Amino acid sequence: MCGIVGYLGYRNAQDVIVSSLQKLEYRGYDSCGLAILNSENKIEYMKTAGKINDLKEMLIEYRIPGNFGIGHTRWATHGKPDDRNAHPHSDGDSSVWIVHNGIVENYQELKTELEYKGYKFKSETDSEIIAFLISDLLKQEYSFVESVEKTAEVITGSHSVLAMADKDMRKVIGFRKGHAGGLVVGYGNDEMFIASDMSAIGEYTNKLVYLESDQLVILGDNSASYKDIGGGYFEPDHSFIEVPDTHFSKDDFDHYMIKEIIEQPRSIYNSLSNKIIFNDDKIEFEDFILPNDFTKDINRIILTGMGTSLYACEVGQYFIESLANIPCQTEDASELRYKDSPIDENTLLISVTQSGETADTLGAMSLFQTKGCKQILISNSVGSAASRIADIEININSGIEIGVASTKSFTGSILSLLFLAIKLGTDKSTLSIPEAESLILDSTKLPDLMNQVVEMNPQIEMMAKKYSKYNHFLYLGRGLNKPVAFEGALKLKEVSYIHAEGYSAGQMKHGPIALVDNNIPVIAMALTDNYYEKMRNTIQEIKARSGILIGLVTKGNYDLDGLIDDVIEIPECPKYLTPFLTIIPLQLFSYYIALELGYDVDQPRNLAKTVTVE
Ligand code: AGP
Repeated sequence: MCGIVGYLGYRNAQDVIVSSLQKLEYRGYDSCGLAILNSENKIEYMKTAGKINDLKEMLIEYRIPGNFGIGHTRWATHGKPDDRNAHPHSDGDSSVWIVHNGIVENYQELKTELEYKGYKFKSETDSEIIAFLISDLLKQEYSFVESVEKTAEVITGSHSVLAMADKDMRKVIGFRKGHAGGLVVGYGNDEMFIASDMSAIGEYTNKLVYLESDQLVILGDNSASYKDIGGGYFEPDHSFIEVPDTHFSKDDFDHYMIKEIIEQPRSIYNSLSNKIIFNDDKIEFEDFILPNDFTKDINRIILTGMGTSLYACEVGQYFIESLANIPCQTEDASELRYKDSPIDENTLLISVTQSGETADTLGAMSLFQTKGCKQILISNSVGSAASRIADIEININSGIEIGVASTKSFTGSILSLLFLAIKLGTDKSTLSIPEAESLILDSTKLPDLMNQVVEMNPQIEMMAKKYSKYNHFLYLGRGLNKPVAFEGALKLKEVSYIHAEGYSAGQMKHGPIALVDNNIPVIAMALTDNYYEKMRNTIQEIKARSGILIGLVTKGNYDLDGLIDDVIEIPECPKYLTPFLTIIPLQLFSYYIALELGYDVDQPRNLAKTVTVE
């Protein structure tokens, strides 16, 4: 889950690399570094166990002149996030330099072989092995290209790698194996770029070539040649794409996370605006076509994703089952990709991924591709690796999300799933057009309803201050709000490092109720719906055991007064819209607790925005 970048041109390489790395910091921010071919034709490097701004500071003091180089921002897998383990890594003679995203799964075995040959390693990383393997092959008189290619063949796992060597100085070789965050080559005027994704180089060029798995590129002075690993050279297809606006500002907010929570009424409006149109007696998506016979033979749907996107899938499962009456299941992509699921061409896979680059989700999508299944992707990143696998892509259209903790992309994802469920329902005739029309009309109330919840911001801030002293929390929901309970608990864990668990309220009696005492606040979603009485009973049972309760209730319901310690009132709304509203106070609660505890809300420890390794 690292970001890698390479530059070959006429500009100062360190400036281009640092600025591109800053745009890749969402992939990891444990450490960073670069290696540059200096004006005396020597490779110099700089690296640090800090963020890109720290590297920038160091490079103000010590500028490396040169127009060729590679850079890296790291999310640690093997070895602590310290200076020693920061990339780039070199072989023992510092004649080969590499940056790497992925995990060398057979590194222990390769390391033993190299140690046997007398090589000495400096870091605890698996990545360092790549530099030694290339170097060892160079010593056996293989060319630089052959050495990189053979190394790519020998290492197992998924990888994106860039390499430089002083034997063939004016080249950067990159290769990709499997799904480890991708590699895209950018063509400028008299300059070449390569990076983990287009956002890093979009300000310089829009003429791109995406490397597929098992491909290698040799970049030189204003040139790029492409080769299949272990195969021949080929001419790639170029893409000319509109690079999304990556200029992001916090506006007047202190953090991206709070900005992204507060802007949800607007982002949901944007999500709504590119979705459904009525066409005679049919409903169509505005920004893409779902062919008429697309769902004809579909008899089963699997929804998949990771983290927040997985919880969005669970909400989507409720929507699809109740509106389209198609058997559905939600599967964690990291499990699904290795499961012997009985799937065939009548199974539809719906993948949800904000980034479109999550390794496990891509792994599941690739598996389903080999089985000939139809695939729909719901993503916030047009042109991602996932969009190159799916048959159809629904754009969440929430706008770029910078905070590592997903917020607006959750509400955008569930809106896309709601509309997809409506479309499937009308295609399968489980929903009449007037019913569908009425659901869509309801959804247009979302910006206003969400705005009413966002206005509770000061109240939630006070509440968070009160509860920030607790070390454990339980989140309970039922029906559509069960996945919201899980997502609320995930948000709290991610940004405030407090232990939190989500449960379906029905599970309480089967074990978790043993945890209840006056040290573990329970956040219970008790809206006035068909689960209300059951939820009320659970609340009563918790109260009877001296539990502390925060209740999310439908506005105007005072029935729980005396049972709950604090109340968050959710505006009355049609049932399918409740998760869009209940999640907002939970996001705010996590944000303000993290703030109270003094944590880095936008870049929480140990996390990365895009998880490009398994
Ligand atoms: C959510 O706050 C996390 N950042 C994480 O769980 C995330 O949702 C997950 O890694 C999936 O990412 P994706 O949507 O980009 O695939």
